[in-house]
Amino acid sequence: MNWKTIGHIDDIPLRGARCIKTPGMNIAVFRTSENEVFAIENRCPHKAGPLSEGIVHGKSVTCPLHNWVISLENGMAQGADEGEVRTFEIRNEDGLLSILLDQPMMVAAE
Ligand code: FES
Repeated sequence: MNWKTIGHIDDIPLRGARCIKTPGMNIAVFRTSENEVFAIENRCPHKAGPLSEGIVHGKSVTCPLHNWVISLENGMAQGADEGEVRTFEIRNEDGLLSILLDQPMMVAAE
């Protein structure tokens, strides 16, 4: 496991997301209205909608395609919907963000 620097929190709009492309998958890094940062797989468990383009509310995101609500904390679909996406640990050091990835060179920086 390796920490990879991915930029500053100010690079992510409030209640928005930034997308990180890796060879394995695309990851969406979200910033909540409370300035918390979460990273999850950028692929809705329903029909692969781009969660990074969804609406952030509280610690959840609503998928832009069919409105499933996904927890940013544990990647689980909320309510009656079933499914989950992978989550990634984020470190925030004075606004400088790093993500914990399982392959050293996984991030092909954007
Ligand atoms: S693809 Fe996300 S709700 Fe359908």
